[in-house]
Parts: sequence; C-alpha cells; structure tokens
Amino acid sequence: MIPTFVRRRPSGKETGTFLALDLGGTNLRVCQVTLNGDTTYSLVQQKFTITQDAKESRLWDFIADCVGIFLEEHGLSPAPGKRTIPCGYTFSFPIFQTGIASGNLSMWNKGFTVPNSVGRDVVNLTQSAFQRNHVPVEVVAVLNDTVGTLMTSGYSHPDTQMGIIFGTGTNAAYWENMENIPKWTGADRKGEMVVNMEWGAFDNATEVLPYTMHDNKLNRKSSNHGLQVFEKMISGLFLGEVARNAILSLVDQRLLFEGRSSEILNKSYTFDTAYMSEIVADDSKDLRGVKTILESTLDIPPTTFVDRQVVKNVCGMIGTRGVRLSAAAMSAVLLSRPELMENPLSVGIDGSMYQFYPNFEKDLYNVSRTFLGDDFVNNRLRLHLAKDGSGVGAAIVAMTVEHERS
Ligand code: GLC
Repeated sequence: MIPTFVRRRPSGKETGTFLALDLGGTNLRVCQVTLNGDTTYSLVQQKFTITQDAKESRLWDFIADCVGIFLEEHGLSPAPGKRTIPCGYTFSFPIFQTGIASGNLSMWNKGFTVPNSVGRDVVNLTQSAFQRNHVPVEVVAVLNDTVGTLMTSGYSHPDTQMGIIFGTGTNAAYWENMENIPKWTGADRKGEMVVNMEWGAFDNATEVLPYTMHDNKLNRKSSNHGLQVFEKMISGLFLGEVARNAILSLVDQRLLFEGRSSEILNKSYTFDTAYMSEIVADDSKDLRGVKTILESTLDIPPTTFVDRQVVKNVCGMIGTRGVRLSAAAMSAVLLSRPELMENPLSVGIDGSMYQFYPNFEKDLYNVSRTFLGDDFVNNRLRLHLAKDGSGVGAAIVAMTVEHERS
C-alpha cells in the first residue's frame, strides 16, 4: 500500500501534448500523448523490446538510448527558451514514493535484476542516464502503471475508482480518502489520494492461498523467491510456467505423451502464456491447434487426442484459477468502500491477460457476482479497457504537475 502523491482526478478537459515514458515488464514505450480536452486522446508511440542485457544490467542507459531515438525520429526538441522536454514516467515496479517525481525502488520483479538499484531513486538513476547520453528530457512525474491506468480511465470515465493491470504482472491502484491512509505522513490529510496497492505481493507469507506443488516449484526457482506469490498465480509472465510444471509432472507420472517430453518443454519458461490462450480457445474437433503447439512449437513426440484434451484441461484450470483470484482481489477492494458501490462506478483495466486471455473480462464479471451480488455487477459495475493507459496516464499526471508549476 503505497501513497502516490497523486491527488487530482482528471476532468477529461485537460489539453496539451506531453512526452510519456512507460517502462513495463516486457517493453519500453516512448509516447507523445495529445489530450484533446473532450475525454479523448491520441498518441504516437514507439515500442522497444527490453533486452535481456537491459533487464540484467544497463537498463538506465537503454532507456536513454530509446528516448534519444524517439526524439530524433520525431524531430522533438525543448520548447523555445527551455532546456528540457517535460516527461511523465510510468515505472511498473514497486517504488516507495518520496514525492511526485521521486521514489526509491523497493525491489525488482518480473525477471529484472539490474544491480545497484534497490533502495535508490529511480528518477535520479534515469535522469543521470539522460544527462550522460545528452537526452534533453526532464522527468516531472513518476507513477506506477496502475496509477496511469486509473488516470486514463478517469479521463474518459469520471466515475473511475480503480485501475488494474492484468498483464505480465498484476497490481491495482485506487482512490482513497487521505485520512484513511496510515502511511501518508504529510500534513495535509484532506481530500483523496491514489494508493498503489502492489497486490502482487499479497500473501507473501504464503499463509492464505492454496498453493499447489507447481506454484511452489515456480516460486522456489524464481529470482524473487518468496515474493510476489499472488502475482505468480495470476499474471502472464508466470501462468505458462505453472502450466509447464503441471504438464511435466503428468509426463513424469506417465500420464501424458507416454512419459516423453522434449528439450524445449524441459526448459523453464518455454511454455508461453500465449500458448495457454490458444490452447484454451481451440474448439476444433481434433484439437488441431493444441497439436500444432505441442508437436510443432514445443517439439513433443506425436500426441494422442486424450493427451491434447488433458493439456487443454490443465491450461483451462490454471487460467480459471487466475481469473477467479483476479476477481476476488478486485472485489475485495470495492467491498472495502461499500459507500462507493451505491453508485455506478468504473474500473479501468489494461494488460495482456485482460486483452488476450479467452473470456477473461466475461469471467471477471461473472465471478465478481459471487462477491458483489448480481444487482451491483449488472447495473453499476463497468469494466473498461484503458488501452495504453500507463503511457497516457503518465502524460495526464505530468500535465497536472506542469500546470501547478506554472
Ligand atoms: C508488478 C509490479 C507493480 C506493477 C505490476 C503490473 O506487480 O510490482 O508495480 O504495477 O507488476 O505491471
């Protein structure tokens, strides 16, 4: 639960063009966002896949390189009389914010291990790389991707109360009354502030959720062992690996593929969550799509129809569990603010699981009925895709900061 220093809801009337940087788990996006002032926006963006080398060591210079390329390709330079271009920075890892444009990295996750960063201010580290590489950009606001999603959804739907990412990782942010935020130590306790929940870290003590041996295996072998255990049951980076562990355990019991695996399947993280989506969605009579993934992509010896059915069921169960846990987390936040549930409310969501996992949104609504009741879900709950929300949200927050400065 991290106070974010974001206190102003967007009105939808904001206008202007802003630079935004969005460091996710898989890609770095550099965007130029135009807010049209009529609840709509447009953006020009360039996506850079984050290299392994960047994830493990030269991240800050990698970011500076990408921003430099974007500025050059789009002919951007500081406004007359200014030395830098202001920029909103979405940073999709946990940071303890010390201000709207500063925050110390709490830990890495999603496979990142850049040394000498934990405990340090990520804005400083990025800004120094800009200076080293002569990139004329100044970070004026740093925010979590869930905060960006919340702001973007709020720009188009003013009744937005929550922003969620169901993607490579998972997390949520929501509006809370400042008097209810014990960690907020600022003098001013009136009004609202966005709280970055970091719910991926829920139950790190592994006391509450029913973990299977496949979850435990994944957790034990991960670079952040014992951390983000909830995220490991829900998000895109991990679900394929949980499924791979489950499939291999059936292989070892000679219940699948006559006990044979393949070199590819034996390697960690080769069973992409995107394969799970394709497998679950395969409704062909002979499960042809499943066959292609298993035999052509993963190089498993010829499979039987029963093998393919079993694999489809395993993937389906792991996916369903993920959606149920996702719905439980979302519902828990709403239930903690019952007064909000009397009126229609929107939740802005982004991320690959929400966008691409078969029936994710439909199931999210359905499972939420169990917790929140049919009446609320049918009549007042609205889930919206906040597409490119993290980048657009960074521009919205940067704009607010710039206005307050001038
Ligand atoms: C991880 C990060 C969190 C981020 C989420 C979604 O859980 O810790 O900050 O919001 O992934 O990208």
